[in-house]
Amino acid sequence: MVKVENEMTKEIALLVAKWKDKEGNLIMILHELQNYYGYVPRPAALELSRALGTPLARIYEVITFYNFFKLEPPGKNIISLCLGTACYLKGAAILLNEIKNLLNVEEGHTTKDGLFQLDVVRCLGCCGLAPVVKINDKVYGKVEKSQIMGILSEYNENKADQ
Ligand code: FES
Repeated sequence: MVKVENEMTKEIALLVAKWKDKEGNLIMILHELQNYYGYVPRPAALELSRALGTPLARIYEVITFYNFFKLEPPGKNIISLCLGTACYLKGAAILLNEIKNLLNVEEGHTTKDGLFQLDVVRCLGCCGLAPVVKINDKVYGKVEKSQIMGILSEYNENKADQ
């Protein structure tokens, strides 16, 4: 753990040196941290606050303002549920509720076991297939509520590793 934190401290020192004189540096550093870790870990935010001399509250203000930034590790499988107009009109909100209930997770968050992350998106570019759910790179079209459990079970750990 200490080693990981030392590496994090070094990584952040490099990022701060790279961006310190540039406009919008906080956001650029947060982008790089998220690309590296998949989210912005709290120890990284603390270290960044120290290194930049920026209050931690300001850093969290920026992180929470932009939907893009995540505060928890990404799930193993990313569910992108489309709530764009075409999908919404075809019942996407019902699918969203079904996924939330089955996985006990809120949108923008990861299940406790880390298996799924639930994201809501505004159009996946295949409106003719509405309502659409994408899991990782696989697109499911004309999805019905009764199919959700079966779709999710494809990503069950035991099946996925076969
Ligand atoms: S609105 Fe859902 S794919 Fe376009």
